[in-house]
Formats: sequence, structure tokens, C-alpha cells
Amino acid sequence: MAATQLVDRFGRVIDYVRISVTDRCDFRCVYCMDEEMTFLPRAEILSLEEIYRVANAFTQLGVKKIRLTGGEPLIRRDVLSLVQRLGALKGLQELALTTNGSQLGEMAGELRRANVSRLNISLDTLQADRFTQLTRTGKLNQVLRGIEAAQKAGFKRTKINAVILKGRNDDEVLDLVDFARAQHLDLSFIEEMPLGVISEHNRAEAYCSSDELREMIEERYALLPLSDNTGGPSRYYRMQDSEIRIGFISPHSHNFCGDCNRVRLTVEGRLLLCLGNEHSVDLKALLRGGITDTDLQAEIVRAMNIKPERHYFNNAEPPQILRFMNMTGG
Ligand code: 5AD
Ligand code: SF4
Repeated sequence: MAATQLVDRFGRVIDYVRISVTDRCDFRCVYCMDEEMTFLPRAEILSLEEIYRVANAFTQLGVKKIRLTGGEPLIRRDVLSLVQRLGALKGLQELALTTNGSQLGEMAGELRRANVSRLNISLDTLQADRFTQLTRTGKLNQVLRGIEAAQKAGFKRTKINAVILKGRNDDEVLDLVDFARAQHLDLSFIEEMPLGVISEHNRAEAYCSSDELREMIEERYALLPLSDNTGGPSRYYRMQDSEIRIGFISPHSHNFCGDCNRVRLTVEGRLLLCLGNEHSVDLKALLRGGITDTDLQAEIVRAMNIKPERHYFNNAEPPQILRFMNMTGG
């Protein structure tokens, strides 16, 4: 009998998997990528069929939530066919997607019909010139149209993710809050994480802590803490006169590893047990070696034994993690 729950050595139940479906992206955000990036050859990334097999194995093992990320998941060819199959998986309660919003104008309706339950859309600035500086290749208007399309398609509690960098967009914190309030969008501020070596800016100098951001917001709106716990590094608040939630994602300042409920599947098919460590299992090798679904499940159960207890991030030191976010799936 296969286990119906994944539990690690520290008693944490793993019911959430984040899957990176491509390392490619139509943007080149300064905190995520270098201007010139080399992407993986097709043969090295999991096929959509292989991704489906892994996702299916996880849901058989009690996983309730899957998030597709990238890179930009919506630029992978035929990604919709994968989304449709995942949306029909029994036992899966939530199929979420993290996107830069560039393709939502065309795809939001289809995604909604395929059972995608929630969207996270990255948006760091509301100024068109800045948007193009921060993303290097992106157009603000296209993303704003994408957000509108998501709202029209009927997505609820769509969330904006904003990475705030000192001297770049830290003067827009309140503007982003007001935008989210007006558009009825949740909003999370993410501290920059030292994933991958970048040359565009010094991460230590650009670092903006969640505490600083909270203080800026409290000058206009009192923030009332919510008790919601998603098992991640986020703390959520609300405002007296708005239904939206404001989150602060702080991998540095708060230790959230104790209730970690998630693992990641990298674009190369490595099952990564922790965002801040290299402990992983090469599922691609197993899949291509002809493993059966039953044995694949057994390997996933075994992998839980190497999930690390916690991670250590420090922007002041050279990155210990050489993976870029686009390979790992935020
Ligand atoms: N630190 C923090 N957030 C990052 N993202 C990409 N790279 C980094 C990083 N180094 C964010 C994007 C997007 C999400 C998928 O991850 O802005 O919102
Ligand atoms: Fe693309 Fe997202 Fe990375 Fe920006 S942060 S380059 S949108 S994957």
C-alpha cells in the first residue's frame, strides 16, 4: 500500500508541489536573470508527459496543491494541454500559476476553463519606463491588459507579487498598495533572494526588508495581522476598509522552515527538497530509465527523508545557491 501522506523526518506534511515548466522567459528581470542567458536544450528538460506523471504521483501521495512556475510557464509550447490534464487530477484541490502576465490577455479565459484556481502575477512597478528597465524586455501595458483579462475571466483573489529594490522602486510601495486596493487584487511584497549570480546590481545594497515596507504602508494604512498560514514564508495583513490581503514574503528575516509544506520540481526534473539547499533526487533519470508509477511514488516517499530542516539565506554574502530562480520555480 502506498502512503497517502508525505511526511518528512521532522513531521512536516508535504502537500504542496511547485513545478517549473520552463527555464525560458520573455522578460529578463534584473533580480532574476542576467541580460544574456543560456537556456537548457530541449532534451534536458522534462517533457509535458513526464511532468504530468510526476504530478500524478504526487497527488496519489496526498498532494493537494500544485503551482506551475518558470521561467514564464505560459510561453512553453502546448502548456495548456498540461494545465488541462492537471486541472482534471483527482484529489488536487488547487492548481495555481505564477506568471509575469504577458500572455494572459490571450490565455486567461482558457486557463480559467482548465480549472486553474488562482493566479500570481508579477508586477514591480506601475511606471512604464521603469517597468522596461526592471524587466529589460517587458511592456507594462501588456501586463496591465493581462491582469484585466484575468479579472474578466473570473479569477478570484488574484495576487500581485512585487520585488522591491532600494533606489529602484521603493518609492512605489504605496502606489502599488493603492493599485491593488482599486483593482481588488491581493498584493505580496517579496524580499530579493540570493538565487543565481547576477551582475546588474549589488543585492546587499538593494535589499529592502519586509519590516521597512510595512512601516511605509503603515504611514497611510493600519495593517491588521491575519492568522492565515500558507506554510510558507509569508505573513498576511489586511486594512480596515478593504477586502484585499497584503503579504510580506521574507525568506531572510523570519524563520518559517518549521512549517514548510512544500517541495519543488525543477525544469530538469530534479525533485528539490528545499529552496535554500541542494538536496535533491533526479526524477528525470528515473523516468527515462523506465520506472513504473508505483516505484516513482516509492522514490518520492523516500525523498522526504532528505528534506533539510531549514535553510540559511544571506544577501551580504556571495550566493551559496547558484541556481537561478527560473530553473527552480520560485
Ligand atoms: N528574489 C526574489 N524574488 C524573485 N523572483 C525572481 N527572482 C527572484 C529573486 N532573486 C520573483 C519574481 C516573481 C516570482 C516568481 O519570483 O518577481 O514574482
Ligand atoms: Fe521572467 Fe519572472 Fe524571472 Fe522576470 S522574474 S525574468 S518574469 S521568470
